[in-house]
Amino acid sequence: MTTRFKKEVLDTPAWWQDLDRFIEEEKAKNPGHVQSALIPVLHYVQDRYGYIPEKAANHVAQSLGVPTVYVWGVASFYSYFSLTPKGVYTIRVCTGTACYVQGSQAVLDEFARRLEIKPGESTEDGLFTLEEARCLGACGQAPVVMVNERFHAKVQPEQVSDIVADYTAEAHATLSAEE
Ligand code: FES
Repeated sequence: MTTRFKKEVLDTPAWWQDLDRFIEEEKAKNPGHVQSALIPVLHYVQDRYGYIPEKAANHVAQSLGVPTVYVWGVASFYSYFSLTPKGVYTIRVCTGTACYVQGSQAVLDEFARRLEIKPGESTEDGLFTLEEARCLGACGQAPVVMVNERFHAKVQPEQVSDIVADYTAEAHATLSAEE
């Protein structure tokens, strides 16, 4: 049986109360400017869930008195916000100029081949999301890969299988420790 990984999300009444409190604070800071309140509220939701779930978008729309389609429009305009769930690990391969000339496309292709997904997709077990990034601010270390907040410098395609194996092992170890 395939192990399925998912981020722990405590969907409790207390969390929704915290969200309501945050929304009221942002509304108070931005009277009459719903969009100014909406962006920080969407950040709050995304930090919590790793993406913007439909139920949260509906709730935010209702609380701010705007149509849900407006919330979706803003969330999909900014690339920071994700409208679909992400894996436990988000692998971001930099394809900015400095990384590209050092061969980052081959690194990205190798991640895609090994994980059997395209950039922008997640593995079926919920463990990995693969993304392409534009300059991660460390051009001297090109090609650069970030896995969540962890930084991998001068990555070559031959290292991809070890990187995937290490994070897979870490996830299994975390899962066993929780059982
Ligand atoms: S181009 Fe990749 S870190 Fe700058």
